[in-house]
Amino acid sequence: MRVLVLGGTLFLSAQIARDAVARGHEVTCVARGRSGQVPEGVRLLCVDRAHHGALEVLVDDRFDAVIDVARAASRWVVDALDVLADRTQHWTFVSSISAYADSATVGQNTEAPLREPIWERANDLTELTAERYGSIKVASEKSVRERVGEQRSFVVRPGLITGPADPSDRFGYWAARFAQGGRAIIPDTPHQPIQHIDVRDLAAWIITAAETGLTGTYDAVGPLTDLGSLLQETAQLVGTTDLELIPIAPETLTESGVNPWAGPKSLPLWLPTEEHGLVTHDPAPALADGLTPRTLADTVHATLADERRRGLGRPRKAGLTPTEEQELLDRGH
Ligand SMILES: NC(=O)c1ccc[n+]([C@@H]2O[C@H](COP(=O)([O-])OP(=O)(O)OC[C@H]3O[C@@H](n4cnc5c(N)ncnc54)[C@H](OP(=O)(O)O)[C@@H]3O)[C@@H](O)[C@H]2O)c1
Repeated sequence: MRVLVLGGTLFLSAQIARDAVARGHEVTCVARGRSGQVPEGVRLLCVDRAHHGALEVLVDDRFDAVIDVARAASRWVVDALDVLADRTQHWTFVSSISAYADSATVGQNTEAPLREPIWERANDLTELTAERYGSIKVASEKSVRERVGEQRSFVVRPGLITGPADPSDRFGYWAARFAQGGRAIIPDTPHQPIQHIDVRDLAAWIITAAETGLTGTYDAVGPLTDLGSLLQETAQLVGTTDLELIPIAPETLTESGVNPWAGPKSLPLWLPTEEHGLVTHDPAPALADGLTPRTLADTVHATLADERRRGLGRPRKAGLTPTEEQELLDRGH
């Protein structure tokens, strides 16, 4: 196949490009080249999608499959559709679980209500909040379905993506933290639900969908587990002998200014009850139609290897710094 990846220099889109090349497809990526490099064997077209009309460079190209991971603007998605929708056989849009309006109710599926779509104006620089991100995804999905048609479009809504080279530093925080040993703070929320999908499994499914013509809308999520098991098993798999896990109550964490889920001064993957809907979507349809999650051991070992390459002690986008963690421990927790 001739495959176009709108993206290709970071995490999921880079893995999609890598996987497609490995399967013998001819792959073109469109990106600015700022987030990283495209995988070996891929043609990169350096384009800034923020410039309306920039995708006109593709006007003479034909692709069997297009995969778009746009997140910043639904305008970008519409621009790509304008140039390519009429002559592309299969179109994947990578949406998000954030497309859903209700983040509290557990056990939702693709029938659940979505956020109101936002088709933003050109060059709209409004800050990308979680709500806005979800609304842009909803608008983008709708544009893809309308322009490409239900018969040729594949829309995936991932929840938490894990695995190597994750720029959000969420799951990698735990692998790297446990590898460093000592007293490691974890949230005392052992029964909190969680689900994740390894980036390599999601990428593989997306390429298979293009190869086989799978269409429809799916929650691209893995099986349900709980955070206590996930962290305990991760610690065991990392295998550091002098590691001690110190659970701290969520109220204490909140009082101490520790954030849930992601970002600075956080305990990644910890979620307040009112957000449990984000990590409890029904995985059955995706699993039935080809999404194949690998073992946690594989995800942990590959993530840890990547963390070691990038430096266990490097500054991160998510988690506690050693100083923040020590301050909490010194307060007697
Ligand atoms: N991580 C998660 O847990 C999670 C969960 C749910 C959904 N998702 C979705 O999964 C997808 C992840 O994609 P990803 O891993 O590839 O990361 P991403 O940050 O969504 O995509 C980045 C790609 O877009 C390109 N890009 C950014 N700005 C651009 C511009 N102005 N012009 C042209 N290209 C531009 C980047 O290349 P350059 O910077 O080099 O231009 C890079 O290749 C996204 O759709 C995200 O919304 C992720």
